[in-house]
Amino acid sequence: VSSAATQPPRGTRLPGPPTSRRAATLRAREAPGDGRRTATPVRVALLGLGTVGSAVARLATRVSLDGRDIHLTGALVRDNARAREAAGVPVTTDVDAIVAARPDIAIEALGGAEPARTIVLECLRRGVHVVTANKSLIAAHGDELRAVARASGAALRDEATVIAGVPFLATLARRPLACEVTSVTGILNGTTHFLLSAIERGETFAGALAEARRLGLAESDPSSDVDGIDASEKLAILVRLLGRLRLSPASVARRSIADVTPHDLQHAAILGGTLKPVAHAAWSGPTVHAFVGPAFVPASHPLASISGVTNGIVLTSASGPLFYGGPGAGPEITARTLLDDVAEVARGERLPWPEDGTAAEAAASPQVSWLLRISSPAPLPGGSDLADLLASHGVFVRRGSESSDPGAGESRWLLTWPVVKVRVDAALDAVRGATGCAATAFRSVEDTHAL
Ligand SMILES: NC(=O)c1ccc[n+]([C@@H]2O[C@H](COP(=O)([O-])OP(=O)(O)OC[C@H]3O[C@@H](n4cnc5c(N)ncnc54)[C@H](OP(=O)(O)O)[C@@H]3O)[C@@H](O)[C@H]2O)c1
Repeated sequence: VSSAATQPPRGTRLPGPPTSRRAATLRAREAPGDGRRTATPVRVALLGLGTVGSAVARLATRVSLDGRDIHLTGALVRDNARAREAAGVPVTTDVDAIVAARPDIAIEALGGAEPARTIVLECLRRGVHVVTANKSLIAAHGDELRAVARASGAALRDEATVIAGVPFLATLARRPLACEVTSVTGILNGTTHFLLSAIERGETFAGALAEARRLGLAESDPSSDVDGIDASEKLAILVRLLGRLRLSPASVARRSIADVTPHDLQHAAILGGTLKPVAHAAWSGPTVHAFVGPAFVPASHPLASISGVTNGIVLTSASGPLFYGGPGAGPEITARTLLDDVAEVARGERLPWPEDGTAAEAAASPQVSWLLRISSPAPLPGGSDLADLLASHGVFVRRGSESSDPGAGESRWLLTWPVVKVRVDAALDAVRGATGCAATAFRSVEDTHAL
């Protein structure tokens, strides 16, 4: 990181193409056309100096961008009385001071929709490029921010918002024809994947959560991960980019992973698959079917073979399934991805802006298989009685597995043939009413993606 005290000559600080009036005045002083690099530092402001912002500050002392140092012009925080690791970076609670320090690029790692939206809008309006890791911001306000950025000539980059450890958003944005996509099925949240992988090894949900907290993988309030809020925001970003549809994260059907047991995973394996924390969206015209939650994934599906904190995503594209996988989003990899975005912006590389989006409409529930769990402290009705009751509601059983435990009663796991959700809900209501059993259903991911 170069000295915080000195600033480069005014005309050298904006690295992007001179699309704004301010940038145009700087064109003459940019890098010479003979390919020689200027040593002008890239001036970067940090919006947020928490887990991600601090990781960026640390990384910025060790790397250069195309031979250019990173000069951290200041960091915006909520409480500047706290001692900070990032020695030498001026810390402030004043947004005006951040902009007055004339950064070329602001890295936004504040989190949440506000005040991040207001602050980012302010930066973009003033021609400061923005690179963000904030999925809540982009999922809720991406279109508004992009419109302001386009008008001012500033760049807005968001590779770090979805599986930062696997850079692929920019690739998809650059290749709209090769990557024409009609559905997305992914494991987009490393924390829930870690939890289900631990439950698969026999841990209870509470035990797995305690371990995730010990390892720094789960927040003290884990609801955003466990209840699928985080994944629904990432899904909305993907549907906007790939389906050109504006999908509100709040409209995504969500199911928590908190009631998944080691027995569920054991019997899912017996039935030929596993349970994974899946985010799925499929679209046709303006209609989208989207859900987030634990889902039965057949063993042959690419997502079945990854575990732990690994993320993966399968896209149904015009040319066949595309599979991206790798580490999720720890602070270090997020910092690297943010600085790679900064480097691209500093080189003047621009992504095509996404086409105008259409408001997404809810699609009818598709026919898919379901993994049913029916359990009771008392003996369960005979297998054929249960199957008949389900069949009377149009739900037909493909295969089943059961366990009995003197302490915990009996449980049966039934994998159905494809059927719409409304029939499954009615059938399980009937089972509960007729037998007093507890009953739940996990959606399945169809095995149409074998690579
Ligand atoms: N953590 C990860 O591994 C990770 C990975 C990928 C993406 N992300 C995303 O990156 C973003 C930041 O995450 P994080 O884990 O770094 O969060 P964090 O540790 O809570 O840090 C947030 C930072 O923003 C500052 N801040 C928050 N509200 C502010 C306000 N109203 N005014 C001024 N400053 C404010 C905080 O100031 P104080 O320091 O004074 O509290 C803190 O420095 C989130 O959108 C997250 O989803 C995180």
